[in-house]
Amino acid sequence: WPSLIGIAVASYLIGSIASAVIVARIFKLPDPRQAGSGNPGATNVLRLGGKKAAIFTLLGDLGKGLAPVLLLRALGAPDEALAVAALFAFIGHLFPIFFGFKGGKGVATAAGALLGLNPIIGGLAVGTWLLVAKITRYSSAAAIAAAIMAALTSVYFGSPPILLAINLMSIALIYRHRQNIRRLLRGEEPRIGQKSHAKS
Ligand code: G3P
Repeated sequence: WPSLIGIAVASYLIGSIASAVIVARIFKLPDPRQAGSGNPGATNVLRLGGKKAAIFTLLGDLGKGLAPVLLLRALGAPDEALAVAALFAFIGHLFPIFFGFKGGKGVATAAGALLGLNPIIGGLAVGTWLLVAKITRYSSAAAIAAAIMAALTSVYFGSPPILLAINLMSIALIYRHRQNIRRLLRGEEPRIGQKSHAKS
């Protein structure tokens, strides 16, 4: 137990590093928490004008989810430890201690965590994101579809702790997209890379 608590705290702190805010500052873009959708994530950084910045944001947020899980896996930690690391890196992204607990929606961080937890589940989720994004050009719809795919496939490919972590992440991720869902239903959600953003 003490080591699981240590893993949770360390992963939470890593997850709390808001790549979007840091990268936007470096690239002199508007604060993604104030502009566009107000979400500190790669989609919004792209919307605010930085393709390169969006890639750095994506890699940073993905790395936050992937690195703690891979490190523990390399150390031979059990699935419980990997699941705790994944979940708490994700929680850190949603409620970052370094950024007033105002975090993002967790898509890239969950993707990194999933790839580390189970490459089949992670690969299918990322593939779903890419496919839905290509067809619809909606980042949010792609993320919601990927989260559902991860929850479903975790039933077949995940051990109980991994299944639990993935399902909790999927529920939180979809809940975080509730404004996007409203905009999608109204036909007001901007497509990937589209500058304008309907207020809601
Ligand atoms: O990564 C979050 C994405 O799914 C939606 O972002 O900025 O359009 O709310 P955004």
